[in-house]
Amino acid sequence: GKFFVLEGGEGSGKSSQIKKMREHFGGRLLITREPGGSPYAEEIRALILNSKNAKQAGAKTHFALFWAARADHMKNTIVPALARGEHVLCDRFDSSTYAYQVFAQEAGELKKFFWYMRMFYLGKNVPARYFFLDVEPQVGLARKRTQKGETLNHFDERDIAFHTRMRKGLLHFFKQVPHTIIDANPPFEVVTRSLIAQLEKHI
Ligand code: TMP
Repeated sequence: GKFFVLEGGEGSGKSSQIKKMREHFGGRLLITREPGGSPYAEEIRALILNSKNAKQAGAKTHFALFWAARADHMKNTIVPALARGEHVLCDRFDSSTYAYQVFAQEAGELKKFFWYMRMFYLGKNVPARYFFLDVEPQVGLARKRTQKGETLNHFDERDIAFHTRMRKGLLHFFKQVPHTIIDANPPFEVVTRSLIAQLEKHI
């Protein structure tokens, strides 16, 4: 199977597009997410995103927790699926660690560890391609804050400079791996069609 990743900043429509991909691809594509995607990794997700103490943690703590969750997700969900010949689409992956922890949380000293961890934890199971729903942070955040029923996590809530550094980090990461940038500014249905076309092409 082939391994793909979907990335997008806050308000890029990523979660709604994931639902559309489920409808379109059905059993042809296993859709999973990070942090989470396996029972134990989902518990780590709750610790990272919902714990009342999470905000006090720094990039070094989050970096380690995201990689720990990812190791379990790889072992129990992604690698077995690929081995069965299934294609996998993951909502966020190591690209988010690079963008959020190294860039947005301003922990440049983690950059060299990032590539080491990537080699150590992923080995040959690196994603075949990353798809990036790109939208300016100002536009994305404005969208997200007006959406009903959206709960913001402690990363979403941070200032515009944080989200600008995050996008810069993603663009920097994508220079080093196979990727496709999809403009997320057009109407939702237009973006859905581009994403489906791209995935069909690469599957
Ligand atoms: P989401 O389900 O809305 O995508 O929330 C996941 C949050 O976790 C999002 O704010 C980005 C953050 N995150 C990181 O900071 N590092 C990571 O490695 C991953 C996978 C997510």
